[in-house]
Amino acid sequence: MKKHILIAALVISIPADFVQAERTAVDKLLQDYAAQGATTANAERGKRMWDETFSRDGDFRWKEMEEYEHRSTDVAAVENPVYKEECGSCHMAYPPGLLPARSWTKMMAGLEDHFGDDAELDADIHQAISRFLVKNSADQSDYRRSRKFSQSIGSNDAPIRISDTPYFRHEHDEIADRMVTGNPKVKSLSQCDACHTDAERGAFNEHDINIPGYGRWDD
Ligand code: HEC
Ligand code: HEC
Repeated sequence: MKKHILIAALVISIPADFVQAERTAVDKLLQDYAAQGATTANAERGKRMWDETFSRDGDFRWKEMEEYEHRSTDVAAVENPVYKEECGSCHMAYPPGLLPARSWTKMMAGLEDHFGDDAELDADIHQAISRFLVKNSADQSDYRRSRKFSQSIGSNDAPIRISDTPYFRHEHDEIADRMVTGNPKVKSLSQCDACHTDAERGAFNEHDINIPGYGRWDD
């Protein structure tokens, strides 16, 4: 009788240990992802790992991970090479999810005097970039941070500076001038990537902020 109980216990306990070990491994992986900001590539690695182990739980955790990635990357990353090339030479290629469609349309209509610079483009490229910006604009996006940008702007307003939007101003009103305009490595708040180390990937959360000469931002 005792022997039977022992065998039964072994049969149950071995897979349970295995499950536990896998769970611990995946939890560790998720923590690593969180630390790295959960890029698409490592989220996909995580999905594969789950698929290879327990598919039912895997589906569940995959949704959780996708949602996490969605939240943590704030706005969609810039993945358009033409846009990066044409609109990323003088400053970073700003993620389209930082301004509403009407702002991009207005900006694209005035590229020959773009904040004092001539940034005019050939007609076909102009059209392709306009389409890309409008399609991925803040008011078309369900990324958390894009919603915040778009909701902060009055429906009749079309600011062409991200740094002029109410949400942006609210988030940056505590930063001293000496860290921005008085800082030769930053110069202006338009240089998102001077402080937000992963800005082109759309990551603006406080863990990815490093103000040159002042270090990591601790709130
Ligand atoms: C020839 C250089 C140049 C090119 C090319 C260029 N820009 Fe700019 N852009 C500027 C300058 C200069 C500013 C003002 C920066 C400042 O005030 O510090 C600016 C500002 C901006 C801003 C506002 C930043 C803020 O303060 O929120 C946006 C948005 C922007 N550009 C988008 C674009 C887009 C989209 C394209 C491609 C169609 C583009 N830029 C191409 C020079 C350029
Ligand atoms: C001088 C450095 C600096 C520059 C340049 C800068 N930021 Fe920031 N940003 C910060 C700091 C610091 C915070 C955190 C403020 C706080 O927590 O009080 C912040 C916060 C934010 C937040 C909110 C983050 C959160 O977790 O709620 C967003 C979104 C953001 N910045 C976007 C931008 C964009 C877009 C640009 C460029 C147009 C930009 N920032 C330029 C330093 C900068």
